[in-house]
Amino acid sequence: MKIRLLPLVLLFGVASMRDANPTIVIDAGSPSGKVSPTLYGLMTEEINHSYDGGLYAELVRNRAFLDDKTSPAHWSLVQGDGAAASMALDPAQPLSQAIGTSLRLEVTKASPGHEAGIANEGYWGIPVRNKARYQVSFFAKSAGNFTGAIVVSLQNADGTARYASASLQGPTSTLTTAWKRYEVTLVPETVVTPTANARLTLTTSQPGTIWFGLVSLFPPTFKGQANGFRPDLMQMLVDMNPKFLRFPGGNYLEGDQIADRFEWKKTLGPLAERPGHQAPWGYRSTDGLGLYEFLLWCEDMGAEPVLAVYAGYSLKGAHVEPGPDLQPYIEDALDEIEYVSGPASSTWGAARAKAGHPQPFKLTYVEIGNEDWFDKSGSYDKRFAQFNEAIKKRHPQLQVISTVGFEHPVGQRVRSLTPDVLDEHYYLPVDQFVKKAATQYETYDRKGPKIFVGEWGAYETPFEPWNAKSRGEAPTPNMRAAIGDAAWMTQMEKNSDIIVMHCYAPLLVNVSPGARQWRPNLIGYDALRVYGSPSYHAIKLFSTHVGDEILKAAASDTAVLVSVTRDSRSGLLHVKLVNPGDADAPVQIDVNGGRALAAAATAITLSGAADATNSIDAPNSVVPVTSRVAGVKSGFTYTVPARGIVVLELPAR
Ligand code: AHR
Repeated sequence: MKIRLLPLVLLFGVASMRDANPTIVIDAGSPSGKVSPTLYGLMTEEINHSYDGGLYAELVRNRAFLDDKTSPAHWSLVQGDGAAASMALDPAQPLSQAIGTSLRLEVTKASPGHEAGIANEGYWGIPVRNKARYQVSFFAKSAGNFTGAIVVSLQNADGTARYASASLQGPTSTLTTAWKRYEVTLVPETVVTPTANARLTLTTSQPGTIWFGLVSLFPPTFKGQANGFRPDLMQMLVDMNPKFLRFPGGNYLEGDQIADRFEWKKTLGPLAERPGHQAPWGYRSTDGLGLYEFLLWCEDMGAEPVLAVYAGYSLKGAHVEPGPDLQPYIEDALDEIEYVSGPASSTWGAARAKAGHPQPFKLTYVEIGNEDWFDKSGSYDKRFAQFNEAIKKRHPQLQVISTVGFEHPVGQRVRSLTPDVLDEHYYLPVDQFVKKAATQYETYDRKGPKIFVGEWGAYETPFEPWNAKSRGEAPTPNMRAAIGDAAWMTQMEKNSDIIVMHCYAPLLVNVSPGARQWRPNLIGYDALRVYGSPSYHAIKLFSTHVGDEILKAAASDTAVLVSVTRDSRSGLLHVKLVNPGDADAPVQIDVNGGRALAAAATAITLSGAADATNSIDAPNSVVPVTSRVAGVKSGFTYTVPARGIVVLELPAR
């Protein structure tokens, strides 16, 4: 007769549940794998005014007058008392081949004290700080009837207060037909409190006809780079210690139509030679932040580029047939790889050297397209294979990423070969992330392709991130979403033997009215200020406290999620604990094997009410708090606060 063993819970009833002993057992005897050195990184694209009106420091909006074909959007006329003028786009007087228009200003009446001219409103205002140096530049020419001066000034939005101004010799009769570039530095001296309530004006006190092209205003930039980045935003990114930057998209790589793709060759060189292009998120990109600037951005952060190349599929469904039609796109991608990583003696390496960077950039990963599971023609298998073959032939050392992961049906994936890496994307409600956090990658075949989680983010509202209704909600996530994000990161970190990289998306959002297309986003800003969401702090906690070895950690009788890594040199354990529950959760932490623990440790905690969050007006409501932990030894009990994310730093004795 067979004896049936009853589950313990049936034999002893609820008493055994009460006796539950929430425990985490860490196996420090031998690591179960190596943490990918590139695990934590950033994903970026032009969405939510991430670059223009965001990281790219240019302050003039519609500087090339190309944003709207019918009128000079974001520009207005300045007409002092008694002055009279008109302005219009003038495609008959293009600035260059790339910039096929200019702005014509006809001043019919003006005199000293009664100036006329043009004003730019900036990206939801122009930020002005006292004693900062602002570089103004513009192209101008006249019809020959103008010999006056042009006054450039930073002033408040209604023109009643001037912060700084300079007078420039106008285009004289000898210059009437030729474009000339003018430059001046403005240094405000009277701004008591930094303000975004400012505009840039170019005015004159003499009648005449003047054309303007590419009017630009740069504040001080990160590391003082020309054509550079906004320092406060860049610092937020540097602080995350990212190991890679995935660019240029996202949808931004593909464009709505093939003609709107990210054409990297058109993003190089002097700004007057960059036409910009229509981006898929509803506005034009200046391409001031072009391929070269992406690379400098990587370098500024100490991160590697993860280069996504256009692969013959665009968002509205058009695709390029694999075979001869696709070949020019493949050549273009090979040129791009050469621009990034080729020696200065190569054709495109020389172009990069000419731009100022003879040293090649380190390149390990190249991604073929973006989210190609949307391509209903089924052409991705063959398109990928054609790119893969050409890239491997010339650069056998490169790792080539397919944009279709295991979360999609077999029919949509690359089938004719096994790609080096698969890019998987997850935008999920918090609860689904918490559920997936327990299991998702545990069963992935360790002999299969590596995984890049190239876009992910938890949302906590009823609206999907891409649903326009979500724009009525806060632009950045709250603490509840940060818990979903942190839970998910424990799963990715524990499996970072196969997950080579991951990155949250979208990274940046201009929180000004009408500036965004998506929620939630990691970092919010307006013209003057910046803040990190709770999810930003969670990711930063994870990415700045990680070892090189993965240790197995088993949790029982607790909903607390855990990931443990160790620094092989110092023996320091980084124990990440995430409590998705609404009650504090005490857990006993057993550490088996490895070096004995020091008695004193550090805990860094991020926690708060489910709806607690940060915003542009309250940037620091939810921030990590560091505390000392005493009496640490194997078997000690630590209480993870409700909705808490904790990094325990346990040094070896
Ligand atoms: O991150 C926002 C968008 O989500 C990306 O552009 C696209 O790749 C994804 O669908």
